[in-house]
Amino acid sequence: VSAPVAVVGAGPAGLMLAHRLARAGVEAIVLDTRTRHEIETTHRAGILEADVARDLVETGVSDRILREGHEHEGTELRFGGRAHRIDFKALVGESVWLYPQTAVFTDLADARERDGGTVHFGIEDTEVLDIATDAPRVRYTAADGTRHEIRARYVVGADGSRSMCRDLVPEDRRVRYGKEYPFAWFGILAEAPMSAPELVYAHSEHGFALISQRTETVQRMYFQCSPDESTEAWPDDRIWETLQARVAGADGFRLKEGPVIDKTVLRFRSFVQEPMHWGSLLLAGDAAHTVPPTGARGLNLALHDVKILADVLVRALSREGVAALGDYQPQALQRVWRAQNFSWWMTRLLHTAPDASAFDLRRQLGELDNVVGTRSGRTYLAEQYTGWPVSAQD
Ligand code: DHB
Repeated sequence: VSAPVAVVGAGPAGLMLAHRLARAGVEAIVLDTRTRHEIETTHRAGILEADVARDLVETGVSDRILREGHEHEGTELRFGGRAHRIDFKALVGESVWLYPQTAVFTDLADARERDGGTVHFGIEDTEVLDIATDAPRVRYTAADGTRHEIRARYVVGADGSRSMCRDLVPEDRRVRYGKEYPFAWFGILAEAPMSAPELVYAHSEHGFALISQRTETVQRMYFQCSPDESTEAWPDDRIWETLQARVAGADGFRLKEGPVIDKTVLRFRSFVQEPMHWGSLLLAGDAAHTVPPTGARGLNLALHDVKILADVLVRALSREGVAALGDYQPQALQRVWRAQNFSWWMTRLLHTAPDASAFDLRRQLGELDNVVGTRSGRTYLAEQYTGWPVSAQD
């Protein structure tokens, strides 16, 4: 078959790109090695910028977020055993939406189905060929074992943080920037009532913890752990003891406990590959850049990429031709590095390095005091957390 655009990766970036292209009358075929069920049951991020939430509704993906999502007008930083609220609405007039990535994915997959878009899940042996030419091809084995080929004009690699598409850019034409961290996140889902009305980002001498939410009865929480931690070593009572110790304080705050129904160790790093465009290949989302999860930038960044990319591809496929693609990276990359900085900054602000000295801990408390104790500090956090305007200039 042939299609103007072939997209490798049916996560939120790949599906939202196909949705946006379809609205402009451009067909895209989307492929993923994972089954729909696998993607839907892999728990990931939970916070959307207001702009991104608005786009889901306004582009006609779904308005479920308005019924099932929760608008949060602020968040809490906890340190020294005390709570400090950052009031996004009052500081910068913005809010964010708590709406899980799994729900974003389901809405997008349903929208592709509803609108007659082509998405093949559970495929194998993906091969992307001829990206140095203007007639790239993607070959794959379908779930039923048959071999297929898509002849496309452009191929988009939206295949996540372990992208194989980004490896197709010749080594002497690409640069990779990255940073590893000496810790990971232990993520859980628990059947319990909410412990707080908004998210709680907690710094403690025992390490970081994040108290997030999913529904009235299911909660999402994370705590900093060693990168080689195994979920096997963590029965429920050890998890709760660890989480409680990290949020404990003079105000007597305690988490509401319940059965843990999902446990995962999430390793993370900072990563960018440039260029995001080479030949007939374009990279979007985690395939081009990965951020540590602190501050919830990853999903938002991926959806911003494809907003720019959809526009550029539509222009490239009409009268402007290939020159239009030159606008993609400059527009996308500025936001990418801003988000890289914020994610790194939030991570460093709140986590305890394994070799942290008493000085390091007290310096961190000083920085946290500077953030919550000054209007400029609170405003900085609020601006970064709620996202930047599309042009991201002012
Ligand atoms: C969630 C994840 C994050 O990384 C974050 O910063 C906030 C919330 C979540 O999964 O709910």
